[in-house]
Amino acid sequence: MTDDVRLRAAEPGDYDRIAPVVDDWWGRPIQGGLPRLFLDHFHRTSLVAEDGDALAGFLVGFLSPSVPDAAYIHFVGVHPGRRGGGLARRLYRGFFDLAAADGRTRVRAITSPLNHGSIAFHRAMGFAVQGPVPDYDGPSTDRVVFELRLDAG
Ligand SMILES: CC(C)(COP(=O)(O)OP(=O)(O)OC[C@H]1O[C@@H](n2cnc3c(N)ncnc32)[C@H](O)[C@@H]1OP(=O)(O)O)[C@@H](O)C(=O)NCCC(=O)NCCS
Repeated sequence: MTDDVRLRAAEPGDYDRIAPVVDDWWGRPIQGGLPRLFLDHFHRTSLVAEDGDALAGFLVGFLSPSVPDAAYIHFVGVHPGRRGGGLARRLYRGFFDLAAADGRTRVRAITSPLNHGSIAFHRAMGFAVQGPVPDYDGPSTDRVVFELRLDAG
């Protein structure tokens, strides 16, 4: 259950709690994909989930500065011991609300074709799933691309 878990807007200093756990939470080295700049410059549109002082989950996302109708979720993670209780769904809904409040009508995200949990999660959240798209992130770096319309009703 996630009843005791509270969501709040992220702050730059949350980076020092998030960065040390991501490799463990993902089960592979991915911390290089989350440099400090994301919390320094996108904390207002990122979310932290806490149970007391304990970090339960987080979402790093932003409102596209270049594509006026789009918002983008870069990373979402839930503590391994807290999965399956709807916390990532709560984080996504929180982000959808702030994106919609800014007039955004679609949310995009990507993942590795090997991240079957992420693909299943995004399907469950109603995202359209495209790919794997060959060379999406450069040579030999295929990606699965997700998009959700916020105005689909
Ligand atoms: C993916 C992740 C964020 C899901 O967090 P979670 O809190 O367990 O997800 P929720 O409980 O909110 O699940 C929401 C829905 O997705 C489904 N889902 C979530 N993870 C799933 C999985 N691994 N396999 C199948 N379905 C899954 C749930 O069944 C649920 O669907 P339902 O409401 O129809 O029953 C979590 O497993 C995680 O942190 N993984 C490691 C990090 C990662 O890969 N992040 C995504 C890429 S950035």
